Amino acid sequence: MPEYSEVTGEEGKILKQKFTTCFRTGYIKIKGTVLPEYYLKFADKINEMKARDDDIWVCSFPKTGTTWTQEMVWCIANDLDFEGAKVNLPRRFPFLDHTPLFDYEDVLPKYPDMNLPDYVTDSIGFINELPSPRFIKTHLPFQLLPQQIQDKNTKAKIVYIARNPKDTCLSYYHHCKLMEGYVGEFDEFAKLFLSNALCFAPFPDNVLGFWKRRHDPNILFLKYEDMKTDLSSVIRKTAKFLNKEMTENQVNVLKEHLSFESMKNNRAVNYEEVIEINRTYKLIEAEGSFMRSGKVGEWKGRMSPELIEEFDKWTEKHFKGTGLEF
Ligand code: A3P
Repeated sequence: MPEYSEVTGEEGKILKQKFTTCFRTGYIKIKGTVLPEYYLKFADKINEMKARDDDIWVCSFPKTGTTWTQEMVWCIANDLDFEGAKVNLPRRFPFLDHTPLFDYEDVLPKYPDMNLPDYVTDSIGFINELPSPRFIKTHLPFQLLPQQIQDKNTKAKIVYIARNPKDTCLSYYHHCKLMEGYVGEFDEFAKLFLSNALCFAPFPDNVLGFWKRRHDPNILFLKYEDMKTDLSSVIRKTAKFLNKEMTENQVNVLKEHLSFESMKNNRAVNYEEVIEINRTYKLIEAEGSFMRSGKVGEWKGRMSPELIEEFDKWTEKHFKGTGLEF
């Protein structure tokens, strides 16, 4: 069992009060990262997990464009197999840390007919059994990835996606209302984001852990804002990284498939099923959709001047001198 501390005090209290889904209990901090306490049961399993040379991982902090990147990576690696892409994304490209985030053993018996898929209730077991090449999503920081990846004892490829912290925070707020039963206000959420108290925080540590390694041959570092400005270039760069040739026409077809409108209406990637389960079982009844607005700079209309100043100072403190700009 790795060393950890419990998240207590004011932050621990707010997290417990404001994140109301029955899947959430207490929180812990492990190697500097805030995670639900249930993660402890799986920490060793993840650390000891065997990576494969032909694995393709998408790593990120939540709400930075992970799903968008996953769909792009999967389609490129599978030669634009749009028929295959009709399978639910979490089955094609499972979320490693899903099971460790939720206490299914306690909660599921209360909902015997809920019938959650295996990639949700046993994400690690599901991934370990997948045929190669595997596609794996995780929000874990570099220092919590399987030891073999940290030690560079694998050629597994990692695509990291980053997004500016203000839009990430705003998107995370809406996500937590919709998916984690968050019942507080945005300003309070932003304070939790800035004090690195939210699940998977600290944001800077997650981003910089991969940014520092961006020149490693098996790591590709991408930005949400670049995908918004010039998706074709990002597609070509990713194809090169995955050793795939793509014609101009194929790039254009994929670009269309990855457009916000197309993804918003695509049930294989828009998590409508999860939202429906939450509503059916009255786990969370908030309104909204996963593919929410897909914009850059939405924070401008949502943050007070004081909050913007706080964010700017915080961003400068953590990112100045790193060469990473948003
Ligand atoms: P918003 O909440 O700002 O709309 P993740 O997959 O990491 O959870 O990130 C989700 C964010 O990516 C959401 O941001 C979502 O709308 C956005 N997103 C998903 N697909 C997108 C696309 N095709 N184009 C632009 N943004 C997209």
